Amino acid sequence: MPENTALPVHIGIIMDGNGRWATQRGLPRSRGHEQGAQTFRTICEYAADIGIKYLTFYAFSTENWSRPAEEINAVMDLFRDYLKEAEERQEENIQKGFRIRYIGDTSALPEDIRKLIRIAERESAQARKTTVNLAVNYGGRQEILHSVRSLARRVQSGEITPDEIRLEDIQAGLYTAGQPDPDLIIRPSGEYRLSNFLIWQAAYTEFWYSDILWPDFTPADLDRAIEDYGNRNRRFGGI
Ligand code: FPP
Repeated sequence: MPENTALPVHIGIIMDGNGRWATQRGLPRSRGHEQGAQTFRTICEYAADIGIKYLTFYAFSTENWSRPAEEINAVMDLFRDYLKEAEERQEENIQKGFRIRYIGDTSALPEDIRKLIRIAERESAQARKTTVNLAVNYGGRQEILHSVRSLARRVQSGEITPDEIRLEDIQAGLYTAGQPDPDLIIRPSGEYRLSNFLIWQAAYTEFWYSDILWPDFTPADLDRAIEDYGNRNRRFGGI
C-alpha cells in the first residue's frame, strides 16, 4: 500500500477485458468472467484492508443485454454465486464491515437474484467499514432519469415547484444517494471511456487507465492507481 498518499474515499472500477483475457487463452468468454469475479473478490478484500470506504464495481450495464444469452447467463450465475456466498458468510462479512449495496434497475433480473440482493442488503445494512456497490443492469443516464422522474412526480403532486429543484434533489434520487462521489475511477483493458458509469457522480472524479485486463488486475495495480491519484492536484474548478 502506497505511503504518504491521500487515500481516495470512494473508488469506482469498470471490470473490463474479461472476454479478451479468455480469448487470448483460447477459452470461452465465460471463463474470463469467472476469473474476473475472482479478481473482484481479491480487490474488494484488499481495498477494504487498506481502508477504502466505498467501492463501486461495474459488473453489467444496461447495454450488456445485447450479448449472447449464454454469456449473460454466465455473468448472472457468477453474480448469483457471489450473493449466495455473501449470505453463507454473513457473520464474517459483517465482522469485516462489508456493506453490500446494489445499484441499477433490478426489475429485469431473475427473481431469485432479486431476492438474494434484498437479503444481502438487509443483512449487511449495519456494516460500516466498506460499502461495496454492485452495478448490475446499471446505466448512468437511466439512473438520472429514475431520479428526475421521482422529482417530476413531486412537482405534479404540488409538493415542490420546478424552480425549487436543487442539484441535491437530483443527487438524492440516485442509487448512490448518501454516498460520496467517486474520487477515482479505474478502467483497465486499454479503453478510455466512461461507458455510462456514474456519469452524474463523476463530475470531478480522477481517472486512471491501464492496459491490464481485469482478470490480471492485482492489488499492486490498485496501489499504483492510488499512488498516481495521490499525485493529482484536484481543484474542483478552483485554482
Ligand atoms: C466486461 O468485460 C465485463 C463484463 C461485461 C462482466 C463483468 C462481470 C464480472 C467480472 C462478474 C460479476 C460478478 C460479480 C461477483 C460482481 P468484457 O466482456 O466486455 O471484455 P472484453 O472487452 O475483453 O470483451
